[in-house]
Amino acid sequence: MKKKKISFSGKGGVGKSTLATLFLKYFITNYPDLEILVIDADPDSNIADLLGIEVPFKDTVGGITTELKHQIANRSFPPSMSKNQMLEAEIYDSLIEEDNFDLMVMGRSEGEGCYCYINSILKTILDDISKNYSITILDMPAGLEHFARKTDKDVDDLVIVTDPSKMGFHTMNRIIEITDELTLEFKNIWVIGNRFSDGLKSQLEGEVKKIIKKNVKLLGFIPEDEEISELNFIGTSILELREENNAYKVFSNIISKILK
Ligand SMILES: Nc1ncnc2c1ncn2[C@@H]1O[C@H](COP(=O)(O)OP(=O)(O)OP(=O)(O)O)[C@@H](O)[C@H]1O
Ligand SMILES: [Mg+2]
Repeated sequence: MKKKKISFSGKGGVGKSTLATLFLKYFITNYPDLEILVIDADPDSNIADLLGIEVPFKDTVGGITTELKHQIANRSFPPSMSKNQMLEAEIYDSLIEEDNFDLMVMGRSEGEGCYCYINSILKTILDDISKNYSITILDMPAGLEHFARKTDKDVDDLVIVTDPSKMGFHTMNRIIEITDELTLEFKNIWVIGNRFSDGLKSQLEGEVKKIIKKNVKLLGFIPEDEEISELNFIGTSILELREENNAYKVFSNIISKILK
């Protein structure tokens, strides 16, 4: 399979992390030999939680860059070392290796002042790291600022998740605008309606029809699912969802389009 990098974005709480996890489950189940990297790029949330993995701040990319900023500020950074090399080595070290995938948590970077060069080398490092994987799944904030990149057109798909709400639709449209403002080229932008009853589907169908960008397509709908809510309540990983689960089955069916 061709290398793929797929980002999930959308309004807060619409199900980005849940669907990114179902996507991971799909690959683990159907392509067990693929190397998969999951990047939790949303500083306000935690796909790690949904996966039942606890990640201390120091092991997040934010934790690592915070430490680097301290060292630079205190001039305790070893002059013999390039910042680029050190950051890259530390980020590699911090990758969390699970049985079927690796996880990288961005977290939030703390510290005063502008460290734009850290952010810019960070982008390069993340690009390099994801080259080692067949599939990179990114759980992104709606702002898309983290992974703003203009290269690798062929591999990048963006999935925008929305629930049946005006704000969800508004954020979907805003994200599409941002991709233009940042001149981000995604090969495909897929829209998934999550928690939609049949009666509401036409609302999103109508909304997507209004979008003139030709690479934006409605991928399909995921129903409200009790088992997903239950797993969330008891704090069990969404990966444990039964393969016969209806939402998972519907999801598996619609994502085959992404893989074509
Ligand atoms: N199809 C579904 N059926 C039932 N519950 C769902 C469904 N999709 C998501 N949920 C529930 O909705 C809540 C929000 O989902 P999730 O955390 O995936 O959203 P998110 O967009 O990642 O949120 P955040 O913006 O906070 O990161 C969770 O409690 C999740 O279990
Ligand atoms: Mg989330």
